[in-house]
Amino acid sequence: MGLTVLDGHLRTAAETLPSEVFEYYSSGAGDERTVDEAAEAWSRFRMLPRVLRDVGTVDLRTRLLGDAFASPVAIAPAAFQTLAHPDGELAIARAARATGTLYGVSTRAGAPLEDIAAEIGGPWWFQVYVMRDRDLTRRLVERAVAAGARALVVTGDTPVVGLKRRVTGTRIAIPDDSYLVNLERHLAGVGSAQARAAAEQDPTVTLDVIGWLHRISGLPVLVKGVLRGDDARACLDAGAAGVVVSNHGGRQLDRSLPSALALAGVVDAVGDRGVVLVDGGLRSGLDCLVALALGASAVLVGRPVIWGLAADGADGVTAALRSLGDDLAHVMALAGAASLAQVDRSLVAGAQHAPG
Ligand code: FNR
Repeated sequence: MGLTVLDGHLRTAAETLPSEVFEYYSSGAGDERTVDEAAEAWSRFRMLPRVLRDVGTVDLRTRLLGDAFASPVAIAPAAFQTLAHPDGELAIARAARATGTLYGVSTRAGAPLEDIAAEIGGPWWFQVYVMRDRDLTRRLVERAVAAGARALVVTGDTPVVGLKRRVTGTRIAIPDDSYLVNLERHLAGVGSAQARAAAEQDPTVTLDVIGWLHRISGLPVLVKGVLRGDDARACLDAGAAGVVVSNHGGRQLDRSLPSALALAGVVDAVGDRGVVLVDGGLRSGLDCLVALALGASAVLVGRPVIWGLAADGADGVTAALRSLGDDLAHVMALAGAASLAQVDRSLVAGAQHAPG
């Protein structure tokens, strides 16, 4: 099966990346309960397939906030992808272009936003960390808009950085040429330590930031890291166009509910007022099908993209995305769904709470 592609990438990444880099990418916060449970939670759902539905051609094409993509499997924002491969974000951007995939580019990208956008050559989203230096945040957002970002995704689950015990201290040493590549032109004359302090997440940020980001960018704003229906509604009330159900791949508050188990409640709370995406532990077509059936408009994958990048650069990322897309199309056929419009909640019987 195609998914051995993902397993092969993970094995290669584990064998070839410096151990502290592999640990940085794979680790989670605290006791890593949330990391451990993320993938398992998707497998608790049971399917109710339809029969005799003409699945000779399965169409994965989708539209998100008005833009067309080849598949509902998108690339999650992740910091400093240059640590996994020298071409980092640029290689991922090339894979996004080759596959027609949505790429969420991180505030902490290790390559210039403009270069990443040029490699994507199509619609992309910019993930925003609201930094202590609000003017720096504004300038970065303005650059993303100028470079063609089509939406902002403000990450709400990271007021402070989660403590990852497997990584020495709380973070590995990110070299200045990765950390400051998008910041230094706005912080001229400032030393590295001061620049990094300016770029730290602002822990005092509130829901008002949604309106501010919309005003300065003119773009739809999604909030990433939402696990509660009432929080999703609060974000929409504050002007958000949607939310990303996520616990940051288990890297923030340990023992957060797995995204798989939070998704339906958020989808129901949002209704038709906005879009809902989801990430965390999605590793197969069936995982993605469950997420889409529960009401996600698209899913984001984080670590599988990083392992593909580490294993084989842009080709590795392309192979990982194709493998997930092919597997999704395969299980959609088995479920009797020829298009995403035919994927609805009736396809899942509900979470079976596995014993122990
Ligand atoms: C992340 N994630 C993340 N999210 C974000 O909003 N901004 C960021 O800069 C980062 N950086 C980052 C680095 C690394 C190494 C990882 C693994 C993750 C979280 C990411 O967008 C996503 O929520 C999770 O990775 C999804 O879980 P999986 O697919 O990795 O299980």
